[in-house]
Order: sequence, then structure tokens, then C-alpha cells
Amino acid sequence: MQEQISSLKEDIATRITQAASLTALEDIRVSTLGKKGSVSQLMKSLGGMSPDERKAIGPALNTLKNEVANELAARKETLEDVELNARLTAERIDVSLPVADHANGSVHPISQVMDEIAEIFASLGFDVAEGPDLESDFHNFTALNIPEEHPARQDHDTFYLQPDADGNRKVLRTHTSPVQIRTMISKEPPIRIIAPGRTYRSDSDATHTPMFHQVEGLVIDRDTHLGHLKGTLEAFLKAFFEVDAVTLRLRPSYFPFTEPSMEVDVQCSFEGGTVKIGDGNDWLEIFGSGMVNTKVLEACDLDPTIYQGFAFGGGIDRLAMLKYGMSDLRAFFDADLRWLRHYGFAALDLPTLAGGLSR
Ligand code: PHE
Repeated sequence: MQEQISSLKEDIATRITQAASLTALEDIRVSTLGKKGSVSQLMKSLGGMSPDERKAIGPALNTLKNEVANELAARKETLEDVELNARLTAERIDVSLPVADHANGSVHPISQVMDEIAEIFASLGFDVAEGPDLESDFHNFTALNIPEEHPARQDHDTFYLQPDADGNRKVLRTHTSPVQIRTMISKEPPIRIIAPGRTYRSDSDATHTPMFHQVEGLVIDRDTHLGHLKGTLEAFLKAFFEVDAVTLRLRPSYFPFTEPSMEVDVQCSFEGGTVKIGDGNDWLEIFGSGMVNTKVLEACDLDPTIYQGFAFGGGIDRLAMLKYGMSDLRAFFDADLRWLRHYGFAALDLPTLAGGLSR
């Protein structure tokens, strides 16, 4: 019996070393440790042995079983590495090559609108700034003059993460305003940035999705005033909606991080079932905005007796829906190819002010 075990052991070991693929290895596993496998059959034969025989053979069989299992696992790891490397080599893509098949891909309307926004603000001298989606409570709330007990926290339907060892809870940022804080802490004025990106709130219907997109704007300098804010947004909206003129209405509002605060509406008409931006009898709310609150400047170590500025923020998805006539926000995130082919943009047409934003 002992001999049988050791020759079986050798035989299996050789087969395992020679197994050239994961499928071949799996076959070996089934034919040894599987229900009807050679090792399992031997284990079963223990039942018919006398207690003495069992005492002698049992441990040897157990060792055999464990060794086979270990060898199988080790070989599996090696083969997986080999297969992964083969795949990595075979699927290698040289991203510097010219695109061969761009007719089949399209740029998502949100990416398109982000590019359009960046292009317009670049022409006005704005940089693009970024911040993380996972934000600290400090950047998303406290530094923006929304302390722990502030009622505005309730309006944000925040997704909180589990607290870390120090009890700090990170959040999925509820707006792009924390990028204001990051920028003011890390840069000396004059500051002129926009910050487009993903934002999150626990909310879902035809006009709300748990993940959505905002763009933030921030200008800090010595004598920046409300007139600059209005002029900037006018210039942006004219270029974005590709119209000769827009009429804005600044409505008093409240945000903890701006003082005074106002909602920015743009004049429009809904005649004939489509929105026309520029003139008409209706108003569409586009941005929240205001002069940066002195408390926010102080939280970022900027001296409010020297510096002041404005900030604005609004939904990119909504801008895309208005410009390109889409009625349900959820379609943005469905990855429905028919929708993407219909609303998507040609992959190689970058929006430029000179060549046209949305040819
Ligand atoms: N962060 C605000 C929101 O999400 C918008 C805003 C940005 C308002 C900047 C004022 C200034 O609603």
C-alpha cells in the first residue's frame, strides 16, 4: 500500500508539472481529488481496512491528499500568471497610433459639454482645477461655512463613508465647491479656475441621479466684484448656447459659502416644445453664485481685507440636456448604444470657439 501511495504521488506530481493550461490542471484535479478521483478512491478504501491498517495508512493518505492540493494550487498560480502575461501581450494597445476605427465610437454628451465649458472658460483666462470625489468633511462642508450643526447639511443628502480610526468620516462630495477650498489653500491669488467633475447625492428621479456632474467657477483677486460675475456668466452662456445675446436675472438666494448669494436665471422660451435660450417669456435657473464669504476666505488663510472674489456652480447634465434637447437625465447613465449613437459626438471633433463648439 505504501508503495502504491508513493508511486501515485510521483505520477500525480509529474502530471501537475507538465500541465500546460488551467483546463489541463483542472482535469488533473478532478481525476485525483474529485469524487471519483484516484486519491479520493484510496481514501474511501480506508473504510474497509482493519483499525491497525487504517492507523498505518490513514496519515500517509492524508499527507498525499494535502500535498496534491498544495501542488495543484502552486501550479495554478504559475499558470494564471502565464495566462495573464500572454493576455497582456496579446491585448496590448499602442495609444499613440492613429485611431483606425473612430466611426464606431462617440463622445458622450457630458464629456462633450465638459470640453465645451473648458474651451469657453479657457478663452476667458480660466484654468481647470480638480479635486477628489471622496472628500473630507472639512473641504466639503466645514471650510465652506457649513459647520456640523448647520441645517444646510440636511439639504445635501450626503453619502457618508465609514469613519476611519480617528473617527473622521469621508463623504462622496455633494458639490464641486470643495475644489474652491483646495484651490484657495494651495494657490496664491489671482485665482481664476473652473472645476468640472462628478458629484453625489442620495436622490433619484427623472431629473436627479445619485451621481451627477457640476462645474464650479472661482475668481479671487483684489477688486473682483459682482459685475465681473455677471459679465463672466453672460459671456459663458452666450458662447455655450451659441446665441448672440442672453438676458440674465440674478435672484437673491442663500448659500453658506457666498455673501451675498444669488441664483442665476437665463431668459428663454418653451414655444413649440423646445427650449430656446436668449429671449422669451420664461426663465431657467442655471447657476448658484455669489461673492465668496469672508469666512471661507479666512478658512483658507486669505486676508479678506485684501482679497475678494466670486464663485458659481451648476449642473453640467442640466446644461447638456438644455443644449441638446434630452429630457431624461437617467439616459446619460444607461450606456444604451442606440442613445449614444444618436446623441454622441464624433470622436475627433474637439470643440473650439473658432471652429464651432458643437458642429
Ligand atoms: N455648491 C452649490 C450647489 O451645489 C452651488 C454654488 C456654487 C453656489 C458656488 C454658490 C457658489 O448648489
